[in-house]
Amino acid sequence: MKQITVTTLASMKRKDEKIAVLTCYDASFTTVLENAGVEVLLVGDSLGMVIQGRDSTLPVTVDEMVYHAACVARVRQHALLMVDMPFLSYATVELAVATATRLIQQGGAQMVKLEGGGQQLETVRILSQNGVAVCAHLGLQPQSIHKLGGYHVHGREDKQASRMLREALELQSAGAQLLVLECVPSILAAEISCSLEIPVIGIGAGADSDGQVLVLHDIVGLTAGHVPKFVKNFMQQGSSIQEAVSAYVSAVKDGSFPAAEHSFR
Ligand code: KIV
Repeated sequence: MKQITVTTLASMKRKDEKIAVLTCYDASFTTVLENAGVEVLLVGDSLGMVIQGRDSTLPVTVDEMVYHAACVARVRQHALLMVDMPFLSYATVELAVATATRLIQQGGAQMVKLEGGGQQLETVRILSQNGVAVCAHLGLQPQSIHKLGGYHVHGREDKQASRMLREALELQSAGAQLLVLECVPSILAAEISCSLEIPVIGIGAGADSDGQVLVLHDIVGLTAGHVPKFVKNFMQQGSSIQEAVSAYVSAVKDGSFPAAEHSFR
């Protein structure tokens, strides 16, 4: 199997081939996800909730991200390994460089992800100019949950929508090579995906972005409590975790996931 790189992802976008991304936090699941054809493994700071039992991503530390990234990196064969920069670990450019250095050198990250728009442009520029592959994250930004006052859809108002489109273009110009859009109306996510050369990966952002990401535990029915609207439990389509993950990948590839019921207007 050929290594998946940022070049592969860019070429998939040009060829209109959907990109399947899933979160992954350990070695055993890495093999399951790679066998199913997942192109990007995201060591997300959602591990704060699904692994550590916390109620947000905020307590997750750089040490913890390095630990989980290294667990995945140790057995990864060909999928691209993307790792979240945790809360406030990139609040200044200097901190961002130090965090990215650890995630790459000790965790084995091939791409780092950070949340935010205009305020992150300089950080994205410096990381990218220094050879770091960066994924930006707009729409709902879970690390800002206390400032935002809750989990809700972003970009429904015209002003918010044009700002998101502008920030997406600026992040691309600053050097971002991938963009995640979380909880964004489908029509806006489609417009942003069409306007950008870099691939756009949606979560609760409709079917018209260049790929999809979900939290692994959500698609195998392990989520306790509230299940977000954009989640689908793929265990209902398979009798094993391997089959469920393969069903997710197929549904992303053939465009049947997400359906209207998983999307926002
Ligand atoms: O941490 C995470 O799992 C994420 C995804 C929800 C995109 O950032």
